Amino acid sequence: MKIAVIGSNMVDLTSYIQRMPIPGETLEAPDFTLGCGGKGANQAVAAAVCGADVMMMTKVGSDIFADNTISNFKKYGIDTTYVQKVVGVSSGVAPIFVDENGQNSILIIKGANSKLLPADIDAAEYDLRACGLIILQLEIPLETVYYAIAFGQKHHIPVLLNPAPATKDLDIRQVCACEFFVPNESELAILTGMPTETQDDVEKAAASLTRRGLKNVIVTLGGRGALWMTETEKKYVAAYQVRAVDTSGAGDAFIGCFASCYAREHDVLGAMKQASAFAAISVTRKGTQMSYPSREELSEFLRNNEPPHVL
Ligand code: RIB
Repeated sequence: MKIAVIGSNMVDLTSYIQRMPIPGETLEAPDFTLGCGGKGANQAVAAAVCGADVMMMTKVGSDIFADNTISNFKKYGIDTTYVQKVVGVSSGVAPIFVDENGQNSILIIKGANSKLLPADIDAAEYDLRACGLIILQLEIPLETVYYAIAFGQKHHIPVLLNPAPATKDLDIRQVCACEFFVPNESELAILTGMPTETQDDVEKAAASLTRRGLKNVIVTLGGRGALWMTETEKKYVAAYQVRAVDTSGAGDAFIGCFASCYAREHDVLGAMKQASAFAAISVTRKGTQMSYPSREELSEFLRNNEPPHVL
């Protein structure tokens, strides 16, 4: 079953910092990496690495980054038929700051990603209809996201929406047709206007979404694991305990791996467990896509570690 990712790509410029400079200050940072990123692209790469047949729909600019982004997709065996160059616009870029605890702060400049429009979905209708799962995020125009969800509904293709970066402009009524809605805890707080500090807070906020019609809400909670909530059930998958050096792209790692496993086996909990392992390995390494393990490394990790508890 082919997976279509309709979403963003970015060039990640990651600075590893001890602290942010104050206005007017120049500060030396110990390290830097340059890599391919963007939530859509990261999820596509993670799904492909985990064995899925992936098609990417995205737009790059007319600059030095474009060809590298396209060849990076090809390197992972991702179908780039619908990766288009836009003349006169920059590629998406993301300056990322990672602190000494591995926590990240990200700025995004969407560039060509803002030019991915509903008409592009129409133009790819024939190939999209052959896909068994569509993955979306919010680094492309909202109208395109809503259109892709309606397209999935019309053609009976399940849709997974990662509402990131979260915006209060997201109209929950327009995304209720998604099969999976996968925020992290801070995105959940923004989208619901509710606190998400404690487990109880997270459950209440997730339940407010299932009450509004979202079928499967999966909240990624970093070191606290992941919560799967439906209208009638809730399950926690605990996190693997690892030492995080860079958490950027970990949510995308989880989603791409989850999608790949779910598309193959249709087992939500099984897919969450594998995704949790894949994301855990990624946070022990620097960068976003460049931190993702190979399939062999994932299998070895799963062999050497007890499966996470499910509560
Ligand atoms: O989720 C991590 C991603 O967010 C980074 O790769 C960056 O490009 C931004 O899109």
